[in-house]
Amino acid sequence: VVYDLLILNGFVVTDKETGGFDIAVKDGKVAEVVARGSLESNETGKIVDAKGGMVMPGGVDAHVHLDEPALFGKGSSADNYETGTRSAICGGTTTLITFAPQRKTEPSLLATLEATHVRARGNCYSDYSFHLICSNAGPQAISEFPALRSAGISSLKIYMTYEALQLGDMEILDVLFEARKNKIVTMIHAENGAIIDWTIKKLEEKKLFDPKYHVTSHPPVAEIEATYRAIALSQYIDVPVLIVHVSSPAAAAHISTAQKKGLPIYAETCPQYLFLTRKDLDKPGFEGAKCLCSPPPREGSQDHEAIWAGLEDGTFTVLSSDHCPFLFEDTETGKKSVISPEFPNGHFKYIPNGLPGVETRLPLTLSANRLPLQKFVEVTSTNAAKLYGLYPRKGALIPGESDADITIWYPEGGLDEFALKNEMLHHNVDHTPYEGRTVKQWPRYTILRGEVVWDRDGDGLLGKKGYGKFLERDVSTLKGSLKEEWNVEDF
Ligand code: URP
Ligand code: ZN
Ligand code: ZN
Ligand code: ZN
Repeated sequence: VVYDLLILNGFVVTDKETGGFDIAVKDGKVAEVVARGSLESNETGKIVDAKGGMVMPGGVDAHVHLDEPALFGKGSSADNYETGTRSAICGGTTTLITFAPQRKTEPSLLATLEATHVRARGNCYSDYSFHLICSNAGPQAISEFPALRSAGISSLKIYMTYEALQLGDMEILDVLFEARKNKIVTMIHAENGAIIDWTIKKLEEKKLFDPKYHVTSHPPVAEIEATYRAIALSQYIDVPVLIVHVSSPAAAAHISTAQKKGLPIYAETCPQYLFLTRKDLDKPGFEGAKCLCSPPPREGSQDHEAIWAGLEDGTFTVLSSDHCPFLFEDTETGKKSVISPEFPNGHFKYIPNGLPGVETRLPLTLSANRLPLQKFVEVTSTNAAKLYGLYPRKGALIPGESDADITIWYPEGGLDEFALKNEMLHHNVDHTPYEGRTVKQWPRYTILRGEVVWDRDGDGLLGKKGYGKFLERDVSTLKGSLKEEWNVEDF
């Protein structure tokens, strides 16, 4: 056989095994994974020498916001499909699942899906799919679930907070019930909107507006209560859900308890809950806005330790970026729209929530050297592929099955640690919350369907806009996520 590409001399790490293997690629797929040295002669084109570097399935980032309209005051996403997917591949992530956000005034999820396709089509450097955000769970949206499945969508996100998105418990039950019939995984943003709004009102009465009060206004109890309620609603309907961006150890404990009972409850956390604290929002002037997201970073190292532990013990199924970037400087007006004479340091409630992180997710997490390598692959790639119906095409290196999506890291001693700077990144954002952090790992190469799209020591970005493909997804194959029988007749 004549292969298109050989990846030689690497140390291969998947969720299942590690070892010295060479990989042969044919027609964009993994063709062979064999003992190191067996593929040395190649009659054909390309060879990538992975010389002792770790070779992993490309990252799958299943929580990314691109080209979304403004939800809070001003501020729509800083990244569109071009710049966001470009940033992803430069950080070792080859597949994104982004959001197709339904507006409350739009009754149709299918129309939302089509509008999102138009924004993405022809613009992507990475492969991609969409989760539908359901913010109007009326009869039309609910009736479209089977059509969504036919269109290759097997997951939804719903919100328990944010006026523009929030569903009440009746609507959540409607969504979960229909999701169950259609074998759709529902992602839930679990924060109690009333606790947040009430606390904001109290802070405003005291004229406390600085960015750091965002943390006060999103207390752990808002997350804990909503997480517990989401679990209860899921248990009642008997349907898998994933609690997104968990920051609170006590919320994680509720999730772990539910999992131990055998309930199909999955959870996600993000680098911001491993690396940032509330102190990052408590900086002079408006600087803290660069670390403002929901849920917010928590107190400190004890919280971080608990989140790392949850990744290790399987409480967290996936580690996603929740890349949701906004510009710090407003390029249109040259002024920050949330700053006024009344609010000289801005008013926290008008600051768009979210951080950039699609490019830094893998390097920061691997640099921390906290997770066993196979666990790292599992939570940053394989589990997302399984949960969202992309496995084994994505998230694996299985001959004949998997796309040749591969991230190759530097060999030990091959990369000097350096201080991260925003100017090194490939997003369209004027800051990173991780400015100045020491990074010890960065992808040496990223390969997407057999094409080298990132070569850090060569020309850098080699991928082309438009090479990224839309991925039709099937049902979840994560163990336990779908019961054999869903007793729909009981209702
Ligand atoms: O602050 C955040 N997480 N912004 C993104 C929107 C969301 O809720 O995921
Ligand atoms: Zn959310
Ligand atoms: Zn820490
Ligand atoms: Zn998000």
